[in-house]
Amino acid sequence: MARSAILNVMVSAATKAGRGLVRDFNEVENLQVSRKGPGDFVSLADKKAETTIKTELMKARPGYSFIGEEGGAEEGTDGQHRWIVDPLDGTTNFLHGIPLFAVSIALERQGVLVAGVVYNPVMDELYVAERGGGAFLNDRRLRVAQRRDFDDCVVATGLPNLGKGEHGRALRELGGVMLHAAAVRRCGSAALDLAWTASGRFDAYWEHGLQSWDIAAGVLLVREAGGFVSDAKGGETMLETGSVVAGNERTHAELLAHLKRAAAAG
Ligand code: IPD
Ligand code: CA
Ligand code: CA
Repeated sequence: MARSAILNVMVSAATKAGRGLVRDFNEVENLQVSRKGPGDFVSLADKKAETTIKTELMKARPGYSFIGEEGGAEEGTDGQHRWIVDPLDGTTNFLHGIPLFAVSIALERQGVLVAGVVYNPVMDELYVAERGGGAFLNDRRLRVAQRRDFDDCVVATGLPNLGKGEHGRALRELGGVMLHAAAVRRCGSAALDLAWTASGRFDAYWEHGLQSWDIAAGVLLVREAGGFVSDAKGGETMLETGSVVAGNERTHAELLAHLKRAAAAG
């Protein structure tokens, strides 16, 4: 596939940060057995990765706005473009030595997602998409799964961590979906959940309570792989509300219906 110049910049930032994360991840595995644990080390790894990404992106496009999980928002002079970055999505996994985490970088133009990269550095899986240009995994074109029967489907979700609210809603929704899907998965990285929905590993995915940087790149990946993505009401406010529901046309609609039933029962 021919990548645009801007996508190349994003890929180079994501892979550079990803290589640093893998080095730090190997160290985390050693710190795991220490009494203090790897907590401080991980938050440093996270910040380092964001600095690497921001430096690369700002060097290429100095005027663009930037929002990253670690450093917050910075208004650019260009007024049209914004980077949306999560340097390490799947921090809890990373912290516990579980090799499922990713770098996520999206680019918005006038509020529309135009490019996205999700990179899983441990598996060396690079997911890229450009608006209107399709989605790819390491140069292989992606298409969402084509399953139609929900009882054949593997559905991914995210559950609220300790201290995050809405445990009741999560349990109601999980109960509803478990009664109809073949299996449910909770892998711990929203960016990868969406990338894996784009690549057909998951038939559908839903989660609430997310931030724009968790899902911006992944939303574009799913759409460019021919999938459907909405918020919990079927609308377009995923990045604002932090709720996301994704799948093919049919699994998306059925998942949405299960979630609405759970909401009505709440
Ligand atoms: C988290 C992951 C996780 C989701 C959480 C997010 P982080 O991001 O995407 O899958 O369930 O809500 O906060 O903290 O690892 O960057
Ligand atoms: Ca995240
Ligand atoms: Ca993060």
